[in-house]
Amino acid sequence: MLILFALVPTVAVTLVGVGTASRALSLLSARSAWERIALSGEQALAATRSAPLTVEQRAVVDRHEAELRQSVELARRFDFVAARSMRLVVAGAVLVVLLVAVGASRVAGHLSRQLSRPLDELVGWTGLIRTGRPIPEQPERLGAPEFEVLRTGMRTMAQELDTGRRRALDAERAEAFRESARRFAHELKNPLTPIRFAVDRLRRSAPEELRDTVEVLAEEAARLETMAKSFAQFGRLPDGPAADIDVLELVTRVARSTVPERLAVTIEGNDTLPLVHGFHEPLVRAITNVLLNAVDACGASGQIDIGLRHDAPFVIITVRDSGGGIAPDTLVRMFDPYVTTKPGGTGLGLAIARQTMDAHQGFIDATSTVGVGTTISLRLPVERRTASTEP
Ligand SMILES: Nc1ncnc2c1ncn2[C@@H]1O[C@H](COP(=O)(O)OP(=O)(O)OP(=O)(O)O)[C@@H](O)[C@H]1O
Ligand SMILES: [Mg+2]
Repeated sequence: MLILFALVPTVAVTLVGVGTASRALSLLSARSAWERIALSGEQALAATRSAPLTVEQRAVVDRHEAELRQSVELARRFDFVAARSMRLVVAGAVLVVLLVAVGASRVAGHLSRQLSRPLDELVGWTGLIRTGRPIPEQPERLGAPEFEVLRTGMRTMAQELDTGRRRALDAERAEAFRESARRFAHELKNPLTPIRFAVDRLRRSAPEELRDTVEVLAEEAARLETMAKSFAQFGRLPDGPAADIDVLELVTRVARSTVPERLAVTIEGNDTLPLVHGFHEPLVRAITNVLLNAVDACGASGQIDIGLRHDAPFVIITVRDSGGGIAPDTLVRMFDPYVTTKPGGTGLGLAIARQTMDAHQGFIDATSTVGVGTTISLRLPVERRTASTEP
């Protein structure tokens, strides 16, 4: 179509041009008229010469004859040149038409590529988005600027879709973990009550030589009970009415009951911290778990520094310990359930803390250097958004 658009007017203009030129040239040449004038002029000159003429008159006649011959000669030459230049004009016109055709086809090809290549690319992207594969990071910049706008829009859409997919997957996984934890806690609790009663009876009536054995039984039963409690906590999302919580007061209380005296604790925070609207018991559990890990990491001696500050819209709690630190492979997984490096650990402490932070629309993360210590940060929003807040 584009070639036709270019060719039709070019051919028309060329034809009109060639026609006009040939007509103008034939008008200009007027060779036959000159031939006739020459013929009649020669007859007139011959007649004039046969008459008796003065020297001046003969000179005038000779001049006229020379002029006449020169004009006829010029007319013939012009005709000769005009005939050949017409051929040149036609050849030039054909060349121009060919050049225009080639140029038009190149322009047409370029324009169609400008449209089709970015469109192909975008169609490819829709396939990648559909199957959840990533869009290439640095694509060739193809097509008009509008395509760049389209690309940016598609990238944003793909990212949002990806985030949504990942969230849905995480939520599904978390629910599956919670479900198995609930069942496990339930199965564990049933035999624990009779075991506890039996151990109590044994404590009272066991002979002296069995006392150590009974103590081992009692300790293991208590450990199982703690484990059942952890599983039960993890299997349940924070519930109950939300309240305004003084985080400094809560953290101070938890630190007092969790950190043994052998370890040095500092708490830095001021009274101007805003109250956080949240779930009291789950927050106590989350901070207890983080502090228990710090205590475990410090071992026999060490330092735990707790900091609280307001950095809108969050109240940020940091727990820094001088323990042995966390290996990088554990660091990236330790908020997942059942990840533990401790004998007898459930690997649920930090998973419960993260679950609590999720329920508050907050965040928990960690930085650690092996041999130096670990810092856990909990960011709690002061106000939760209401739509998706209540668990
Ligand atoms: N402050 C810390 N210093 C060193 N390692 C830590 C620290 N906090 C967590 N970890 C590592 O992360 C793992 C997971 O911690 P998490 O609290 O979830 O489970 P756990 O402490 O192993 O078990 P549980 O909490 O049931 O006693 C720990 O086993 C430990 O390896
Ligand atoms: Mg723990």
